[in-house]
Amino acid sequence: MSSQKINVAIIGLGFGAEFIPIYQRHPNANMYAICQRNRESLDKIGDTYKIEKRYTDYDELLKDPAVDAVHINTPIPDHAAQSLKALRAGKHVACTVPMATTVEECRQIVEAVKETGLTYMMMETVVYAREFLFMKELYEKGELGRIQFLKASHQQDMDGWPNYWPGLPPMYYATHCVGPVLGLTKAEAEYVSCFGSGTIREELQKHYNSPYAVESTHIKFRNSDLSAHVYRSLFDTARQYRESFEVYGSDKSVEWPLIEGKPLVLHTAKKPEPEIPEEVESPDYAHLLPEPIQPFTTGGVYDADDHQHLSFTQGAGHGGSHPHLVHEFISALVNKREPFPNAKQSANITCVGILAHESAQKGGAIIKLPDFTLA
Ligand SMILES: NC(=O)c1ccc[n+]([C@@H]2O[C@H](COP(=O)([O-])OP(=O)(O)OC[C@H]3O[C@@H](n4cnc5c(N)ncnc54)[C@H](O)[C@@H]3O)[C@@H](O)[C@H]2O)c1
Repeated sequence: MSSQKINVAIIGLGFGAEFIPIYQRHPNANMYAICQRNRESLDKIGDTYKIEKRYTDYDELLKDPAVDAVHINTPIPDHAAQSLKALRAGKHVACTVPMATTVEECRQIVEAVKETGLTYMMMETVVYAREFLFMKELYEKGELGRIQFLKASHQQDMDGWPNYWPGLPPMYYATHCVGPVLGLTKAEAEYVSCFGSGTIREELQKHYNSPYAVESTHIKFRNSDLSAHVYRSLFDTARQYRESFEVYGSDKSVEWPLIEGKPLVLHTAKKPEPEIPEEVESPDYAHLLPEPIQPFTTGGVYDADDHQHLSFTQGAGHGGSHPHLVHEFISALVNKREPFPNAKQSANITCVGILAHESAQKGGAIIKLPDFTLA
């Protein structure tokens, strides 16, 4: 393994703070700097993790020549502008989802990556979750047979969330379901058609002028016989938090449990009923990682103050994906290869959601993904 160390700066220290101990232990990373606007909590986190370089001003951080790469974890509306600034300042970028909120912003990031030759990766958790890695392994070993269909959902009750969340059109935050359906076979979306369904409370509708409780999208894959179905809800729809992903093959299919915490269901063709379905636990894929960060895929990792690492308690737990994301980004930089998803792939995934909402507003009209999102 190379001994090169990438100097990483993390911007945004809510969710972002969860990645600090992982970068600190990655053999090719140096957890160099942290940035958030509030000095008091910046210092608290800096003291906890013993990080000396601290910035309250993102622009100042970008002037620091020692920073090789930024990992952006700020609120959604800031992702695109901050990614562009970093690329123009000569820094590699990892950014939490989504890449941007408009097609035009996605285009600018793809162009900036092309112009600078720098690396961009969208840090989509689901495509590094153990359940996804399990289905990917079955796919790559040929056990699923011919892939016939993919399906994913992301449902969450976001009542009471602040800032930009109230009334958010569900498809504006669709990467957790679009990412896996495209990611399994490394496919590209060619066009989408989305139906809105149901109606959210009037006080929520006004924020984005969007009434839909559920948005349900069909994605046609490019140069492929496949299509996928993804659906999302955020308000006024009763459902436990669930990020599901399912794949149907000619030989085997995998379905997500209806209740979180239950095992996946593996269906095998041509067995006699009732033997077709069997419950299976996803194995863990820590062995794919450098040894020092392997413990971060499962619970029981403690930081310096003996606090349990948050990634395993937040939301649906993100399937142990955080160390895989860090390793993909850092190893892509060290080995000078494209990460998954790279800028174009991230734009393709993100634009599916943005254009799906546009399609819903046009009664389900077919909308093509722009050329800049295609390889
Ligand atoms: N599964 C996932 O992929 C997943 C899970 C959780 C959160 N997220 C994403 O992570 C991001 C952050 O979520 P959160 O819940 O931590 O939000 P948050 O509001 O709790 O934290 C945002 C952080 O960004 C900092 N910040 C805001 N503007 C800044 C600026 N201009 N310069 C420097 N720092 C700035 C804030 O100080 C804060 O530390 C969101 O985009 C969210 O969608 C992704």
